[in-house]
Amino acid sequence: MTNNSPLQLINHPIFKFHRLTISIKRDDLIHPIISGNKWRKLKYNLIHAKNNHKSSVLSFGGAYSNHIHALAFACHQQSLASIGIIRGEPHYANNFTLSWAKYWGMKLIFVDRETYKKRHQQDYLQQLQNQFSQSFIVPEGGSNKLALLGMSEVIDELNQQTKFDSLLCPIGSAGTLAGLIQGDSNQHNLIGIAVLKQGADNKSYLRDEVIKLLPNNTKDYQNWHIENNMHRGGYAKFSASDLERIFAFSKATNIPFEPIYSGKMLLALLDLIEQGYFPAGHKIVMLHTGGLQGLGGLAERKLINTKQWGVPPQAPSS
Ligand SMILES: Cc1ncc(COP(=O)(O)O)c(C=O)c1O
Repeated sequence: MTNNSPLQLINHPIFKFHRLTISIKRDDLIHPIISGNKWRKLKYNLIHAKNNHKSSVLSFGGAYSNHIHALAFACHQQSLASIGIIRGEPHYANNFTLSWAKYWGMKLIFVDRETYKKRHQQDYLQQLQNQFSQSFIVPEGGSNKLALLGMSEVIDELNQQTKFDSLLCPIGSAGTLAGLIQGDSNQHNLIGIAVLKQGADNKSYLRDEVIKLLPNNTKDYQNWHIENNMHRGGYAKFSASDLERIFAFSKATNIPFEPIYSGKMLLALLDLIEQGYFPAGHKIVMLHTGGLQGLGGLAERKLINTKQWGVPPQAPSS
C-alpha cells in the first residue's frame, strides 16, 4: 500500500474572502478501508509485529472505533490474527463497525468500563501479554512511538507537495499530532483540534499525552498547540447546526467529512478564520484523517440523516 496521498486545493468563497490558501491532504484516499491516519499509525506497528515473529496484534477501542476497524482489516491483509479489547457489552458485536472487524477475523473481547480504564496500566498489560503471548500489544488508537514514525512521513510528503505555514489535524489519542510534531522539527505551525472534552481535573491531558509520546527532549518541539475548546460538547457530540455546516461544506467542495474527527477539524478551521487567527496570505493545510467508516455507526444510531450522508456498506452477514 502506498501512502503518498494527494494534496487538494480547496476553492471556497470564505477562503477567498479572507485571502487564505487552504489545501487538504487527502489521507482518506490512501485506501478505502485503512484510510487516513490509520495506515500511517499501523504501518510500522505491523512491520514490528512481523519482524518479532508475533502471530497476532492486540489492541483496544470503543464499540465504533476506527482504529479497531482498520486494525482488523490490516491484520487480515497481512496474515496476522487480531484481538480487540472492546469497551462495552457483547451485543455491540453486531454493530456496523464490529461486524466488519469480526468479518475480517478479529477476536472480540468485551470488557466493562472499569476494566477498560486499566488499558495503560503495566500490570493489566502484562496479564494480557501472558494470556496472549504471541500477540504484539498496540495501545488504543494505535498511538505509540512506532505510530509516530508513520505519521511523520506526512510532513515529508507535504514538503514535496507544497509550501505551507500551518497544518491542522484532529486529536483523540494524540499519536497523530505527536508524529506530525516529530516529523516537522519546527518548520510549520501545527494545530491539533481536540475532539474530546478534557476532565476538569486534568485540562492538559491531551498535551501531556503528546509530550509522553515525543522523544525526551520536548524543548526541541515548540511549534505546536492544541485548541481545547472546539470539541463541540465532547467526543462524538455535535449539534444539528454543526452537521449542517459540515454537510454544506462537503457538498460545496465534494470532499467527504464525518462529524467526529475531520468534521470537527473543519469547523475549527472555519471558526479560527472567523476569529481572524490566520493573517491574510497564510497557507494552511488540513490533514484528512479518514474515519469515514464512522458514518456507518452514526447512521445505525440514527445520529445522521442517511439520505444526505454517504453511508458505507454493511459487512456481509456470516
Ligand atoms: C479518523 C480519525 N481522525 C483522527 C483521530 C485522532 O488521532 P489520534 O488518536 O492519533 O489523536 C482518530 C483517532 O485515532 C481517528 O479515528
